[in-house]
Amino acid sequence: MNEQLTDRNQRTEWYRDSRFGLFMHWGLYSVLGIDEWIRSINQMPEKDYVHLMDQFTAENYHPEEWAKMAKAAGMKYAILTAKHHDGFCLFDSQLTDYKSTNAAAGRDLVREFLDAFRAEGIKVGLYYSLLDWHHPDYPHYGDRNHPERNNPAYKDVPYNFQNYLDYMHGQIKELLTNYGQIDVMWFDFSYENMAGDTWGADQIMDLIHQYQPQMIIDNRLEGAGNKVGSIMTQHPKRYAGDFASPEQVIPPYPIVNEMGEPVPWESCITINKHWCYNPADLHYKPAKLLVRTLVDCVSKSGNLLLNIGPTPKGEFPVQAQEILQEIGAWMKVNHESIYGNHVAEIAKPDWGRYTQKGNTLYAHIYEESISALEIRGLQGRIKRMTLLADGTEIVPTKHWTLSAYPDVDYFFLHQSATDSYPLPDPIDTVVKIELEPQE
Ligand code: GLC
Repeated sequence: MNEQLTDRNQRTEWYRDSRFGLFMHWGLYSVLGIDEWIRSINQMPEKDYVHLMDQFTAENYHPEEWAKMAKAAGMKYAILTAKHHDGFCLFDSQLTDYKSTNAAAGRDLVREFLDAFRAEGIKVGLYYSLLDWHHPDYPHYGDRNHPERNNPAYKDVPYNFQNYLDYMHGQIKELLTNYGQIDVMWFDFSYENMAGDTWGADQIMDLIHQYQPQMIIDNRLEGAGNKVGSIMTQHPKRYAGDFASPEQVIPPYPIVNEMGEPVPWESCITINKHWCYNPADLHYKPAKLLVRTLVDCVSKSGNLLLNIGPTPKGEFPVQAQEILQEIGAWMKVNHESIYGNHVAEIAKPDWGRYTQKGNTLYAHIYEESISALEIRGLQGRIKRMTLLADGTEIVPTKHWTLSAYPDVDYFFLHQSATDSYPLPDPIDTVVKIELEPQE
């Protein structure tokens, strides 16, 4: 591993151990409660949107409560939208009037978020949109996404993109210098030629190195399709990022670079089907699915960043709160199989997943079975097996009718039974397997 990657490895250590984070999309769009892209989707003029500032009250925003809920769910880091594509800022930027302190909220929502989550020992990050549909010097007509992209009135309006870059870099500097330590900056996103150097990404990295050298960033200062100097290469560009950011998908196997070395990664996944608050969207993912998704990520050495869209008043939707509680109940007794865990030394079993930390393997059992469950590839290295949730001892066995398969160890989930049914925890029953160290 070269020096650059060793440095990345060190800075991302806490992040790779954390495994579970909270994402929040919150802004003026939350008032409409449809989609954070609504201005772009409906090609909505600015004048029909800015007045939402009067309705963005944040009146029930108690970030200490958010932080407590996140902590109880077992989340170790949290990322809030400081600015999304609409350009509205949740922080008291001196470079714009388009901010929460000037909205009905009248508060610096970012500062309060940072204080509250830090107080619970949760690492903090900020999402910052590279796109900006409010700034006059961001390309309007002909841009791929801008709400005014098809409006001929903007066709010949001159703009000075450098002004926008100065603004964006100035805001990033504000965030890096006025808010204490920020653990993650989550830049979003690059498209077509709006990528890398166009964003002045090297200057952004200069700011980060100057003010917050410990900070880690995602890989979206760079276009997703770019192969040259990306995070997947042996010599990534300075701004290639510290972790890969698959979205609404779990990679099929651990992400590695062209040298086969692990690349830190995080899948961001919505709790229902939207990033921002959408009261009509009741397609909440059940806790069982989300726990298994988290385990799937960990079994591939990755993180899960679970997104919630707070209401314009500043509440987590009730459904989301309930799901967090259920995840928390599972995490409370099973977190040992998550934090600091990574891909296991043996292949994925038919009945669930493995995660591993040092010489301890965790079997995550999803599938009920009328017989014993098989473990392949440990060649008698099992020292001790227990049910992680309560410490019940489980005795490995060579099932007498299966002696034709000498490479397989078996275990019954119930000490005195001959089957593994019913499973003690239908969400995910975890068996802790302590191994003799490998020769
Ligand atoms: C998608 C959405 C964007 C959201 C992002 C988070 O790109 O369009 O609104 O912020 O995902 O990864």
